[in-house]
Amino acid sequence: MQEVAVEKALTFIEPGPVVLVTTAEGAKQNVMTISWTMAIDFAQHIVLTAGGWNYSFDALMRTKECCVCIPPASMAKTVVGIGMVSGADTDKFEKFHLHPLPAQQVAAPLLEECIACLECKVVDYVEPYGFVVLQAVRVVINEEVEDRRLLHAVGDGIFFADGEKFNLRQDMLEKLPPRL
Ligand SMILES: Cc1cc2nc3c(=O)[nH]c(=O)nc-3n(C[C@H](O)[C@H](O)[C@H](O)COP(=O)(O)O)c2cc1C
Repeated sequence: MQEVAVEKALTFIEPGPVVLVTTAEGAKQNVMTISWTMAIDFAQHIVLTAGGWNYSFDALMRTKECCVCIPPASMAKTVVGIGMVSGADTDKFEKFHLHPLPAQQVAAPLLEECIACLECKVVDYVEPYGFVVLQAVRVVINEEVEDRRLLHAVGDGIFFADGEKFNLRQDMLEKLPPRL
């Protein structure tokens, strides 16, 4: 086998869908792109990686709320664009023609163009790694979004969209909680 740069490690541990994380602090709404996400249990806890390098971070920590929205793969270029500019000096909703909608459990907005949005509370922050631990408290889906493919980031600027799906539910039913 051939050795490659150690930096390539993460590209083999594909980290789930790229998400758009919205925040709201007072009248200021914002959205950022996050690809380092992970579901960690069956109790609706998810972790995303963020820190002071994101303008959204202060709002996230102060309000302890956000929405984690799942864009369709067809939004890839917009999703990257959202992650390349900051809410510190840009209204990203206007720049990227996004459609924020009111959520119910949090002040942060839903994004109508997304396949699903998870309304979340921040329950912990693990500083050395920038792990923001979230508890999803409400989930909404938009069945009108035609493209149902999730977007995945390899980590080096390469992306892929969901391909063939396999249903192996029967094989693992014993381990799945009810309602899942
Ligand atoms: C494809 C993509 C994935 C990204 N993933 C992350 C991530 O997982 N964690 C993170 O802190 N920043 C990530 N970023 C960078 C933020 O989206 C970026 O810092 C953004 O400007 C933050 O917006 P804000 O300053 O308005 O909060 C990503 C950017 C792109 C383009």
